[in-house]
Amino acid sequence: MTSAPFTKRKILVTSALPYANGPIHLGHILEHIQTDIWVRFQKMRGHDCHYVCADDTHGTPVMLRAEKEGITPDELVARMQQEHLRDFQGFLIGYDNYYTTNSPENKTLSEGIYNALKANGKIAVRTISQLYDPEKNMFLPDRFVKGECPKCGAKDQYGDSCESCGATYSPTELKYPYSAVSGATPVMRDSEHYFFKLGECADFLKDWTRGESTLADGRKQVHLQTESLNKMNEWIEGGLADWDISRDAPYFGFPIPGTNGEKFFYVWLDAPIGYMASFMNLCERSGLDFNSYFGKDSDAELYHFIGKDILYFHALFWPATLHFSGYRTPTGVFAHGFVTVDGHKMSKSRGTFINAEVYLKHLSPEYLRYYFAAKLNNRIEDIDLSLDDFVARVNSDLVGKFINIASRAAGFISKRFDGKLASALNDTSLLDKLQSAAEEIASHYESRDYAKATRDIMALADLANQFVDERKPWDLAKQEGAEAELHQVCTTALNLFRLIAIYLKPVLPTLAERIASFLNVPELAWQDSQQLLLGHQIQPYQHLMTRIDKKQIDSMIEENKQGMEAPAAAPAAPTVEPLADTVTIDDFAKVDLRIALIVNAEHVDGAAKLLKLTLDVGEGKHRTVFSGIKAWYDPAKLVGKHTVMIANLAPRKMKFGLSEGMVLAASGTEDNGGVFLMEPHEGAKPGMRIR
Ligand code: 2FM
Ligand code: ZN
Repeated sequence: MTSAPFTKRKILVTSALPYANGPIHLGHILEHIQTDIWVRFQKMRGHDCHYVCADDTHGTPVMLRAEKEGITPDELVARMQQEHLRDFQGFLIGYDNYYTTNSPENKTLSEGIYNALKANGKIAVRTISQLYDPEKNMFLPDRFVKGECPKCGAKDQYGDSCESCGATYSPTELKYPYSAVSGATPVMRDSEHYFFKLGECADFLKDWTRGESTLADGRKQVHLQTESLNKMNEWIEGGLADWDISRDAPYFGFPIPGTNGEKFFYVWLDAPIGYMASFMNLCERSGLDFNSYFGKDSDAELYHFIGKDILYFHALFWPATLHFSGYRTPTGVFAHGFVTVDGHKMSKSRGTFINAEVYLKHLSPEYLRYYFAAKLNNRIEDIDLSLDDFVARVNSDLVGKFINIASRAAGFISKRFDGKLASALNDTSLLDKLQSAAEEIASHYESRDYAKATRDIMALADLANQFVDERKPWDLAKQEGAEAELHQVCTTALNLFRLIAIYLKPVLPTLAERIASFLNVPELAWQDSQQLLLGHQIQPYQHLMTRIDKKQIDSMIEENKQGMEAPAAAPAAPTVEPLADTVTIDDFAKVDLRIALIVNAEHVDGAAKLLKLTLDVGEGKHRTVFSGIKAWYDPAKLVGKHTVMIANLAPRKMKFGLSEGMVLAASGTEDNGGVFLMEPHEGAKPGMRIR
């Protein structure tokens, strides 16, 4: 088989920027998993691919929430950014940069884009009339005006739509309106607003939405999926209204140049510019050339993964903003549908509005990565997380079919062949078949049809299991003189397993890492699928993945329900202890932190909380340290592990003996959060200093 010459592509990818005023939930996770799989696939294929995201920080909700919590908006968004990144990392989303729209880069870029639009005659100033809260002295966004639905009379409905009858209307149509901020009755007030003249961009947008780009490898990429294109055309044909890009003070955002701090950019103006800003920040840190990605003549591909609800912004406002301010436009905007759970909209009261942090407490991220991959294609369809199907599919596909191949063959290689694979195979026909599937599978990933990719891969896993079923290594192992055949069968099976692991790696990155260490090979790359692993020493097989127990799902749903029942208005309490006073580097240098090997660990008679640790800090003698970790650790499991100790702490005489230092552990503000000993990355040796 001859393959086409490799053309290295320059690719920049984004996921939509989550709002900083709420936690990460399953809806975000679907999108970021979808993007991450695509990015990991491109990286594995050897392309230059960068993935950036950020928190979307500006707007009235963040301003009001910070006020309620008694902190500044900057403090609030800094905290949220940390929490969001923590959750995304928990799902193994591998951004090259996760930034914030509240950044100097974003301010400079937003001002530059605005000035360029203005210079191109694309900004208009008009006076509009809006509802104003006379007590709070602020204009009210639609969501902050409440009242009776003008259609059905339901009370306490938002200013833009009724949750009871589904009607949409403008806030001025509400009956008995009141401000959701102060309760005051709003009044109408005039104000000057700045508009981007989108109406004048219709011809450009007609072309752009239907357009396509030619990629470095000669393929064509349409800018929009067919469903998006149809929708956008309806909107363009219906006439595009100019877009109001300003908001009055008080507002958390960037002031519009030349308005004396009275007007701010509307959050949706600077949010997509946040994609550029996050990438610019990455460029500053890594030496990449920003202009070769965003300049008019860029040869890079630019893709935005988004939800279908924000197409209008990404397929109309955003390309027009970029084009008329002198930048390149996106190569593709990839929209996906919404997540439903057991066929219904996610619901807080049913516990199916699944919070990312809560999910991770109960279940492995790779289960969900696999399940979503198995359901995602490149169309705008809603994705249902059917909880029973989730359990069945993960258990039968991942554990039953995939992992099973290795667990059925690996033991024989360890026990009978000293861990070494056969150095040649008599029959590679099945392996050839799996190897030749590589390009077809790659084309499914490339076109974002992960459902097809996983279906093809699982069909290969079926073939591999069929092979093991037919060749019965467990029988061969008992037969005299069948040693060589046993070696052949198990080597073939492990090679089949390895090929499948390569194909699944974009979906299951940490499992792929564990498999690489079991196979005793470096990181798996796509091209590795074209070679076999022969005459090679592997590691003893260790359990790679466990089945999901339905109870884990039940407790996750239960915890979600509880989290959601908390009164919505109650500000979330800070989850981390405040930082201690600043120290100088010299203060820090006084603390001598060393890597210690735990040589022994045991219970101490009569001590309720302590374990007695014997530590080797590379001094040629051992130290004894008493540590209050008894409730959290089984001493037998600590022996042989490395940890970190303060080696120059004054020895302390305790009831049970002399303690010659202290081991370091992390703990939260509450006692019941757990205590976690520090453990260095592999390679650290006893006595090494930590600085
Ligand atoms: O809909 C949202 O959650 C927005 N925060 C998405 C912004 S995407 C981009 F334009 F910044
Ligand atoms: Zn109604």
